[in-house]
Amino acid sequence: MELKDKNTVVTGAANGIGKAIAERFHQQGARVVLADRDQVALDAVAAELNAKRPNSVIALACDLSTEKANAELVENSKKFLGFIDLFFANAGVGVGSDLSTPESVWNTAFDINVHSHRWAVKYLIDDWLAAGHGYFVSTASAAGLLAQIGSAPYSVTKHAALAFAEWLSITYGNRGILVSCLCPQGVNTNMLRSGDRTGAGANSNVVRVAGAVLEPETVAEIVVNTLRDETFLILPHPEVAQYVAKKATEHQRWLAGMRKLQHRVLDI
Ligand SMILES: NC(=O)c1ccc[n+]([C@@H]2O[C@H](COP(=O)([O-])OP(=O)(O)OC[C@H]3O[C@@H](n4cnc5c(N)ncnc54)[C@H](O)[C@@H]3O)[C@@H](O)[C@H]2O)c1
Repeated sequence: MELKDKNTVVTGAANGIGKAIAERFHQQGARVVLADRDQVALDAVAAELNAKRPNSVIALACDLSTEKANAELVENSKKFLGFIDLFFANAGVGVGSDLSTPESVWNTAFDINVHSHRWAVKYLIDDWLAAGHGYFVSTASAAGLLAQIGSAPYSVTKHAALAFAEWLSITYGNRGILVSCLCPQGVNTNMLRSGDRTGAGANSNVVRVAGAVLEPETVAEIVVNTLRDETFLILPHPEVAQYVAKKATEHQRWLAGMRKLQHRVLDI
């Protein structure tokens, strides 16, 4: 899909990867609804983009961890955009660690990393099927294809996000619905920077040693180029494809290698 004159929604658009994607979409000529719970940062992005092209962007501050909030986001986005050509469910949280992770943290991880995708699609799909087109893009992670050392909730919810996107593509792909899923390794954002060696922060150390840490703008450029081809998997770190192949064909060795990496970084 070419983004010029397209009507788009980007969640998690106040910071990091979502902000860079929203800016890139806008630069390509799209109208963009920016959604995030971080209202101050969100309004700053909206002001910056509307200064470049008046009335091309609105900011909708919302906490997307409920079905109601996602339904309202779709409804309010349609008031501004009319038909939504592309919805990018990118907001996510890197929370939780091991078996001691509280239930409330597991629930937060599922609500935002998985259920928000499902809830958004629930309110998008009727319009898309009636029109015979619509593009759903989500951000999972390389952790959704491989694993996240140090965090069971992140690992599990990112697998689930990828599984949902695959299911969507299989179920509706023959009726004009396009689906892509962004699966990066390390990206230089608050999520990665905020870590230390405990809890979710331990994950960032693992991510740093696992490979290159890309800038969000680099990821956004790769996203736009991949959306042009309408390819399902968006892999800013191409080596992830090799790791996935190894995981599939030499699973025992892959697990042993992951244990070694864990020992090196977390001393477990
Ligand atoms: N940074 C990385 O290394 C990396 C790697 C792979 C995948 N990801 C994924 O990329 C996505 C974007 O993360 P990022 O790295 O840009 O981090 P970030 O923390 O900079 O951005 C995440 C954004 O999501 C928003 N958000 C979180 N919970 C929300 C909620 N309940 N309602 C509305 N907004 C909410 C935050 O306010 C924030 O603006 C996430 O899904 C993350 O899991 C990140």
